[in-house]
Amino acid sequence: MTSSTDLATGTGRLPGQAGTLLAELGERAELHDLYDEYGSPVYHDITASDTHEVRELVRLVRSSSGPVLELASGAGRLTMPLLALGRAVTALELAPGMLGALDERLASAPARLRARCTVVRADMSRFALGQRFGAIVLGTTSVSLLDAPGRAGLFAAVREHLAPGGRFLISTVDDALTDSGADPGSDEQVYALSGVSGRAYRMHEYWPRGALARTVSIFPADLDRVPDGPVRIFTSSVAVVLADLLIDEMAAAGLSLVARHPLPTGGARHRDVLLEMEAAV
Ligand SMILES: C[S@@+](CC[C@H](N)C(=O)[O-])C[C@H]1O[C@@H](n2cnc3c(N)ncnc32)[C@H](O)[C@@H]1O
Repeated sequence: MTSSTDLATGTGRLPGQAGTLLAELGERAELHDLYDEYGSPVYHDITASDTHEVRELVRLVRSSSGPVLELASGAGRLTMPLLALGRAVTALELAPGMLGALDERLASAPARLRARCTVVRADMSRFALGQRFGAIVLGTTSVSLLDAPGRAGLFAAVREHLAPGGRFLISTVDDALTDSGADPGSDEQVYALSGVSGRAYRMHEYWPRGALARTVSIFPADLDRVPDGPVRIFTSSVAVVLADLLIDEMAAAGLSLVARHPLPTGGARHRDVLLEMEAAV
């Protein structure tokens, strides 16, 4: 799906109804990656008040000890509640736009929280921080942004950075609950979203049955009322990386399963699970 989308020039196609909407906008459409400098503020606007996974992650991190490493921290949706636990948190993120949004969020946070946070620009598939952590967190099913070699690099680096007795907490799509049930739904779901800014968006999730990737696209909610000029559309192609595959890959990297914690929501077609892992002995 990414191959039909030329983000570098801001042109290209999207699958399904999102593609039709994009085509109707013609030359006014500017297609961006969801995590680039224009996409990061929109991602932050939409997700800033989203509490998905927070309670489960905080509970598990609380029962570990020592510093916390959060991978793919984005603009800090999970970082802030982790800092609120009173622990030192290293937030690792690759996209400059996301790091800028995280810096802004930290700047307006209480000084005692800010003082405990270290922000690092790095690739989660190959990092070397010279430190070990009591808990390493990769939430929001962000592992789906890596291909198989990237995941192998991630798991090797995680193994290197886990303190004795430490936990790696990683969320992903749960095999058991995915794409099953009486209502198969259509290939494309459309959601109405509103940001903390009050702006309204329309999100298309295109996921043909059985496909191992889905495309998320975000448009302004009311295309008839956007002012003249360019219209920015944001997209991300997300692999569907099922829990059983990850557990096998992590076992090969020396990480073993402690527990599977079901997460209350995912999307219309899937449920997520939080995997609690430890270094194999
Ligand atoms: C789905 S967002 C999750 C952000 C944040 N954890 C949250 O819950 O809002 C995924 C994040 O992963 C970041 N990312 C993508 N590839 C990465 C990589 N190789 N290394 C580090 N971060 C990466 C993106 O820039 C984005 O901020």
